[in-house]
Amino acid sequence: MHPNPVNDPNLSEDDPVLSLASRAGQTPNALAWENFWRDAPPEEHTVFWDAPQERTGAVHLPLLAPYFGGGRPVVDVGCGNGSVTRFLAGHYGRVIGVDVSAEAVSRARDAASGDEGAGTALAFRQLDATDIEAVGGLRTELAGDADVYVRGVLHQCSPGDRPRLAASVAALVGERGRVFVVEPAAEGGAALTALSQRAEGPPSALAAVLAHGIRPMEMPDESLPALFGTAGLDVLARGAVPLALTVVGPDGESAEVASNWLVAGRNG
Ligand SMILES: C[S@@+](CC[C@H](N)C(=O)[O-])C[C@H]1O[C@@H](n2cnc3c(N)ncnc32)[C@H](O)[C@@H]1O
Repeated sequence: MHPNPVNDPNLSEDDPVLSLASRAGQTPNALAWENFWRDAPPEEHTVFWDAPQERTGAVHLPLLAPYFGGGRPVVDVGCGNGSVTRFLAGHYGRVIGVDVSAEAVSRARDAASGDEGAGTALAFRQLDATDIEAVGGLRTELAGDADVYVRGVLHQCSPGDRPRLAASVAALVGERGRVFVVEPAAEGGAALTALSQRAEGPPSALAAVLAHGIRPMEMPDESLPALFGTAGLDVLARGAVPLALTVVGPDGESAEVASNWLVAGRNG
């Protein structure tokens, strides 16, 4: 386990963890994620948000399907261990999962190597989605507009990184692509706080996240459409959908966090 509270506002710039991150050419956020994924258990459905696809991708598919398609590739931004990316690859011709963590990408590749038909249609790439230059390289490689899927990434980014990530998404989407994004609602923060403050301690999957200094950060509900509006995208559809977790809630059922989704694009 790497004690690595890099999102902790109490840490100063000369903290050894931060300077290690900067010497390695990584942002503190990137280092926290790398360490999180290095320490994460390998079994599927053990990471806090890695719920089975019946409760994640399959719930999102009917929301995004009217907007995705037209032969465009799908880019899963912040794909983690690739569970949803692999699900999307069963529905779209070309799917690319990108994540800031090389370890996450390596795990996603390993998991996908056993999938039927995996190979040509599905790829994973280490990429910092706040790095607009790197994202420009991906766009050039894709040679056209893409549809973009984002689940639970923006609220984990620092407030300063969120507009950069939204601008990257807008660059990938181009003129005809669409983005589907789902992020915990402000109301969902209460459920996460309740889980993290249980008398018996947080569930182990949540404890693993917190131990790496990764905290769900506050993101006001209206900032989600505002981020994409500022990036030049119109909101075409939006709503609420629970974000499924792998832990059990106080009622003994699989826990969920209230979340908001939206679809955005240009020329709506
Ligand atoms: C909460 S996890 C969600 C993973 C995945 N979207 C899912 O739903 O299973 C957030 C992911 O975003 C990745 N991430 C965080 N900041 C990123 C960035 N700037 N660029 C690319 N990926 C990033 C993390 O490494 C992590 O895998």
